Amino acid sequence: MFGHVEPFAGDPILSLNDSFKADPRAEKVNLSIGVYTDEKGRIPVLGSVRSAYERIGFAERPYLPMEGHPGYREGVQKLVFGGGHPARAEKRIATIQTIGGTGAVGIAADFLAKHTPGRTVLVSDPTWENHHGLFQRAGFRTTTYPYWDRANRSVDFTGMVRALEAAEAGSIVILQPVCHNPTGVDLSEEQQTAVTDVLVAKGHIVVFDMAYQGFGTSIEADAAFVRRFAERASCLVANSFSKNFSLYGERCGGLSIVCRDADEAERVLGQLKLAVRRSYSSPPMTGGLLVATVLGDDTLRARWIAEVDGMRTRMDAMRRLLAERIRALSNEVDVDFLLSQRGMFSFTGLSEQQVRDMREKDGVYLVGSGRMCVAGLNADNVPKVAESFVAASQA
Ligand code: LMR
Repeated sequence: MFGHVEPFAGDPILSLNDSFKADPRAEKVNLSIGVYTDEKGRIPVLGSVRSAYERIGFAERPYLPMEGHPGYREGVQKLVFGGGHPARAEKRIATIQTIGGTGAVGIAADFLAKHTPGRTVLVSDPTWENHHGLFQRAGFRTTTYPYWDRANRSVDFTGMVRALEAAEAGSIVILQPVCHNPTGVDLSEEQQTAVTDVLVAKGHIVVFDMAYQGFGTSIEADAAFVRRFAERASCLVANSFSKNFSLYGERCGGLSIVCRDADEAERVLGQLKLAVRRSYSSPPMTGGLLVATVLGDDTLRARWIAEVDGMRTRMDAMRRLLAERIRALSNEVDVDFLLSQRGMFSFTGLSEQQVRDMREKDGVYLVGSGRMCVAGLNADNVPKVAESFVAASQA
């Protein structure tokens, strides 16, 4: 019956993470999947989240509503848009709790496939691979807009704007507002404004995918692009709590759709509920309660923000340490990219073969595209990573 079923080629990130786990070498280093580990190489349990666990206890676990926990949804809105955003005051944002950031993008794709079908979807070149997959699964054709300027290791802004201008009016455009995955390079504020002008003028449907809020500059600053855009036009915003709450396995995310008015938002929320019901009925409760508890309590929230600041500061310090260590080994390897890029990822410019060399010879795992997860660096593994990086660069 299933003889025709083709083997799964594997996922460039998740399957690589499986290979890392299966690698018997003790000194292996995982800089592939986007997971933050602390100086001891462990996924931290944040103190704010630990306190929330204690508070929620072993209570009963009924189904959550299709749209999720009310406190969680309120928390998402305040975090993404800021408490005083005009769209919030006018009650024209429809927000649901989702199964991680991936679930948010998936529900966004399903919603758009039903209500704005047949459009072209543009994603950055390169992007998180699953953007293509999720929108194609929903029935869309995906294409790319230029983003990465390889020669200058920065944003190909001219190419990006030209492509967005040339795209058919009303296309769907996926934007990562901060800590771009996989390149680690973001638009400047000026560039954000110029891109917004184009997007609004063309009537493109913008889907922001914000998976790293707080890992760029701060929780507030990282949301500025989304907030300003939402003052000017409708948009969709997927957000994730996997990284900034260190709650990867709990699958906590959110999807917000900024609408024209409260009536439209009410109808959009209804359709999001329907999309959830047809997909997984309602989101899981424990992660929902944890996030809602932290975001709904001023003391826990402040503690959480300080913890996010701590993770970001440590990642920045590891970027500097790796750059220093590489410089000490060789003057010929350019490390400026480590210092200018931000967030969890750096695009090293290494070829697939060089990445393979690092993995096979040294057990240092990067994604095949040359993406390095700097959140996996620590003082113990930086010397080994530096040596492996220099050897691969000079091979
Ligand atoms: C990543 O890009 O490594 C993370 O976002 C994990 C994932 O789901 O791919």
